[in-house]
Amino acid sequence: MTLRFSARLDAVPEYVTARLNRAIAEERAKGIDVISLGIGDPDVPPDARLRERLAEEVQRDDAARYPTNLGLPDLREAVAEHYQSRFGVTVDPRTEVLPLLGAKEGIAHLALSVLDPGTLSLIADPGYPVYASGPMLAGASTHPLPLLAEHGFQPNLADVPSAAAALARLLVCGYPNNPTGAVAAEGLFDSLGGFGEQHGLVLCHDHAYAEIAYDAVAAPSALASAAFRARGIEILSLSKSYSIPGWRVAFAVGSPEIIAVLHRLKTQIDSGMFPAVQRTIAWALRQPDLATAPRALYRTRRDIACAALAAIGISVTPPAGGMYLWVPVPTDETSLAFSERLLAEAAVVVTPGTAYGACGEGYVRIALTLPEDRLTEAISRIAGAL
Ligand SMILES: Cc1ncc(COP(=O)(O)O)c(C=O)c1O
Repeated sequence: MTLRFSARLDAVPEYVTARLNRAIAEERAKGIDVISLGIGDPDVPPDARLRERLAEEVQRDDAARYPTNLGLPDLREAVAEHYQSRFGVTVDPRTEVLPLLGAKEGIAHLALSVLDPGTLSLIADPGYPVYASGPMLAGASTHPLPLLAEHGFQPNLADVPSAAAALARLLVCGYPNNPTGAVAAEGLFDSLGGFGEQHGLVLCHDHAYAEIAYDAVAAPSALASAAFRARGIEILSLSKSYSIPGWRVAFAVGSPEIIAVLHRLKTQIDSGMFPAVQRTIAWALRQPDLATAPRALYRTRRDIACAALAAIGISVTPPAGGMYLWVPVPTDETSLAFSERLLAEAAVVVTPGTAYGACGEGYVRIALTLPEDRLTEAISRIAGAL
């Protein structure tokens, strides 16, 4: 008899990174020097102090014991202290903080905790793919919140059709934004709170680039807004800010009611964060200078890449945050056709904007996760393909 599998997965397109990795491997197998600007995987190692601390923590006899989903009290306390010192937000470490095995896991499980078939999630478009796949895997659907250049890549809540708002239970967005690089506009989180109150929504702010905001622009926490906080959580990932994506560290912070439900789900599915990582992160969050190096590095690369693109006639607004350039397609091709041609003709991988939703048409995303010489070489190869 043949093997049979859940139809659940058929609802979801293949994950963008999996698809890109396959295309890159095929070209490299032919001996081609592919430059990948596709995947936002930090290329710089974490601060040496972090690695030394983790090495020490791994030696503890109890480091390999089962953790709990709630995490160590000292870790939750460190997250609360970080919220106070970094964002000026007071949170209760006992009821308002939950460790996650990365933001991706947390956002997918939030959808599973909140949505049922017949309901929907309002999601930023373009947006990080799990905003859509989480609801789909939960048997629910999604409705896009278009992020358009003419609105500074902010959602226009007045445009949400009342039929969609009536079915919605969840709203997910994130700033500094992947892929557009926009930071949250003044008053955005208050507006989301008001809209959420009107329609009975759980709100989720994905703060994956909390420490990667440039120039004088700080990346605020959504929890600084009382209206947002009354019915929302923020997902703070350390992957990018501390250059530790493989460690799988994030936190859900905010509404105790939502935290409790997410915790209930997670106790059924995972068993919490590696204790040595928990102790290392409790220490790291109390060292204010640990997250500054990645920010400085991406800012330098951003400026170099924007200048190199301008020199070949592609004008890109320098992003205010995040580690990507959101580049208008400079030809009359679709974003997919342009990115496929760049791979075939220039051996350069960029992500088609439509990988982040229909509103990504007309753009490709360039990740600033390569050294400067490779970035500039990729851009001169792009010039050759124009
Ligand atoms: C907007 C956004 N959210 C979440 C994530 C995933 O974060 P984590 O590594 O904590 O799962 C990413 C990673 O690229 C991202 O860009």
